[in-house]
Amino acid sequence: MSITDDDLTTTNAAVAKLEGIAASGELADFNANRITLGPDHSLIGPVAHLAAERIRLAALEWENFTVRQVAPTLGAVVEGLDLSLPLSDDTYGELRDAWTQYKVLFFRNQDLTAEQQLAFASQFGELEVHPFLPGNEESPELVRFSKDAETGGYENGWHHDVTWREVPSKGTVLRAIEVPNTGGDTLFCDMTAAYDGLSDELKDQLEGMVAVHDFFQAFGHTIPAGKQAEIREKYPIVEHPVVIHHPVSGRRVLYVNRYFTSHIVGLSDEDSDTLLAELYRQANVVEYHCRFHWEPNSIAMWDNLAVQHYASSDYWPDVRIMERASIIGVRPSA
Ligand code: SIN
Repeated sequence: MSITDDDLTTTNAAVAKLEGIAASGELADFNANRITLGPDHSLIGPVAHLAAERIRLAALEWENFTVRQVAPTLGAVVEGLDLSLPLSDDTYGELRDAWTQYKVLFFRNQDLTAEQQLAFASQFGELEVHPFLPGNEESPELVRFSKDAETGGYENGWHHDVTWREVPSKGTVLRAIEVPNTGGDTLFCDMTAAYDGLSDELKDQLEGMVAVHDFFQAFGHTIPAGKQAEIREKYPIVEHPVVIHHPVSGRRVLYVNRYFTSHIVGLSDEDSDTLLAELYRQANVVEYHCRFHWEPNSIAMWDNLAVQHYASSDYWPDVRIMERASIIGVRPSA
C-alpha cells in the first residue's frame, strides 16, 4: 500500500490510509528503509511513524484561540489569549485538550506578574514546591532559574522534571523574565514518538520493567553532607514503570531520563546501563524535537509526562532569568 497524491487531497483520507498502513504492519516496511550508520548503529532515513500523528494534529480545529503547529508531533504556538485573565470554562477545557494533543504550548507577549503566572498555572491543578532548587522570594511555588557569569545553566541534559517524586509534576508553566540576545532556547522531545519508534522486540523487552529514580544523581552535590540522611528519609528512592500510559491521552510514553533514573530493577548493573543508554539515546532523535526561542514575556507550558526538555546552555556569561510553576500530577502507571 502506498500514499498517492489523491490520498493527500484530503487530510482525513491521508490519516485513514496511514492508519490502515500502521494497522496492517506495513509501516514496518517503510521503517525498514532506514539505514544503519556508523559504530553506534544510528539510523538515517524517513521517520515514517510520525506521519499519522502529524497529519492528525494538523487537522485539529480550535474555537477559542488559534494554533500554529511548530513540529510534526509536538509543540504549538497559541495566539488570541491573555493569560493574565482567568480562562472561561470553554477556553480552559479547550486549552487543556490542546495541551494534551500538542504536549507543549507556547505563548508570546504575556506580560504576567509572578502572581498572574501562579494564578494561570493553578487553574490546571495544585502547585508543587521544589525542595532543592531556589525559589522566587515571595512565592515558593515558583522555581527561579537565574543564570549569569557566576551561575551557569546545568539544565542542558534531557529530562522530565522531578521523576524522583512518587507523584511527579504533570506539567509546567515556564515564564521568561530576562533572556540572552542569542541562545538560551529550550528544546522538547516527544517521548510518545520515542516509544512508538522502538522496535517491537525492544517494546516487548520493556513490558513490565520498572526503573529506580533518585534525586541524588542530579542534586546530591547541592545538599550539605550533614543534611543528606534527613533529606534521603524525606525523599526515598522511587520506582516508576519504564513505559507508562499517559493518564489523559492513554498513549504510551518512554519514561526514563538520565538526570534521575539510576537503574532498572532486576537487571545487572551492566545490562541496566546498556539498556538505559539505548533508551536515553531516543531523546537525541531530532525528528522527535521542537525548539523554542525565548523572548521576554514568552511562556512555555509543557506536559511533563509526555515530553522531556533540555535548556540549551550556550549563552554563558550572559543573563537568563526564568520562573517555573509546576503542577502536581498523579502517580505514573504502566
Ligand atoms: C528546566 O529544566 O525546567 C528549566 C528549563 C529552562 O530553563 O528552559
